[in-house]
Amino acid sequence: MYSKNAPSQATNPLNIPRLIDSREADQDIQLKIQDSRHEFFAGVESETKGFSQSYLGPTIRLYDGEETRLRFTNELNEATTVHGHGLHVEGQLDGGPQNSIMPGDTWDITLPIRQEASTNWYHPHLMGKTAEHVHAGLAGLYLIEDENSQNLSIPKAYGVDDIPLIIQDRSFENGVMNNYSVDEDEMMDGKREDTLVVNGTINPFVEVPKGWIRLRLLNGSNARFYDFHLKDNEPFYKIATEGGFLESSVEINSMRMVPGERNEIMIDVSDGQTRELMANLLPIDDDFFGELSIPTERVLEIRVDSSLESFGELPEKLNTITPWDPADASKTREFTLEMEEMETGNNTMDMHSMFSINGKAMDMSRIDEQVKQGDIEIWRITRDEMDHPFHMHGTSFLILSQNGKPPAPEDQGWKDTVEVGYGWTEVIMKFEHEAAREHPYMYHCHILEHEDGGMMGQFTVQ
Ligand code: C2O
Ligand code: CU
Ligand code: CU
Repeated sequence: MYSKNAPSQATNPLNIPRLIDSREADQDIQLKIQDSRHEFFAGVESETKGFSQSYLGPTIRLYDGEETRLRFTNELNEATTVHGHGLHVEGQLDGGPQNSIMPGDTWDITLPIRQEASTNWYHPHLMGKTAEHVHAGLAGLYLIEDENSQNLSIPKAYGVDDIPLIIQDRSFENGVMNNYSVDEDEMMDGKREDTLVVNGTINPFVEVPKGWIRLRLLNGSNARFYDFHLKDNEPFYKIATEGGFLESSVEINSMRMVPGERNEIMIDVSDGQTRELMANLLPIDDDFFGELSIPTERVLEIRVDSSLESFGELPEKLNTITPWDPADASKTREFTLEMEEMETGNNTMDMHSMFSINGKAMDMSRIDEQVKQGDIEIWRITRDEMDHPFHMHGTSFLILSQNGKPPAPEDQGWKDTVEVGYGWTEVIMKFEHEAAREHPYMYHCHILEHEDGGMMGQFTVQ
């Protein structure tokens, strides 16, 4: 009953997080950060945390050009923060480690949204505690809409043909989710577990209209990388990366996603047939393990209910992307993501000194880089051993190259998180918003164990 091997038929209706539309909210959007209990398996409760719900948080819809007031109340008995991952907002609204909300306190913010339609998310970012807080369930989606997204003929009925998928891996004993803990190997590899959980649902199915459907995927796992595909390798269409729509859709058969990344895809189910969205649960070094030993699990069974009405279609053109010109970059910075096992004097491992960027472990009192507001910059990132998802706050970038090669068409969109592998990954972006010394932005590895361990740095934009 609690087996991790999905039975041939999905058994649970996919949980669709409640939608809060900022245009319909007549007051502040209020979320309580709370300890809770969630039933992953019917009748069995696990200890969890959530934003005004037992696990995860509501989906909040925001609009380009508008301001939204949010109030987060921390009902935990420890501090936390609420970072807006992917939002282009100034440092003091960013929710990084300096924005801690003490137990019992509230954090009131007014978010001015000035960016294009995109799927973003919110999650804690407290120094050394991010992995544990996210693992317990603290994460939710911010969907930004703009004129373009509202005018496009794509599917946009939330939870009907426009379906959010927060994909995480967890492990269970007799149906009870294992609380967060890491040993030294799990710190190094990142915490990877064996059971997929989608929007807090195990082994889910969803019923969709006959026609085109849109899935918004977030890899909300602590450390797991995935390769997503449809059963039988049927093609599907990628329409958006983290920061917005691609110029036009790209037909693909599989899609790799590292922690923190979001992608939107569309699938044609007009033949009424059931589809299965699958994922390879990638181990730390997928080349070394080889294809055969990589577990494949079903993420979602997609059933067609012909009584539901379908409206969306796949448009020819989705967006206009005007890339920054590398010749206009005022500066190029280099970052090396490093892992190393170091013995300290008393022969115990100091976790914090194992992870660093450019030789320095994260120090909240040190500013590592200073960017001039309004500048275009190129950042070149590499790593010493394993691949890492590199993320930066405050803006979106375009990939210039990865190990000397230009990005594939499906990766030529706005992003804020990118897999850094062998060679240099080069990205270009413009920093429009201010992040002063008291509230700097972060750049870091989005394997949460590595981030907590110190693979993170701080930068100001002024
Ligand atoms: Cu999703 Cu700095 O984080
Ligand atoms: Cu972020
Ligand atoms: Cu890492």
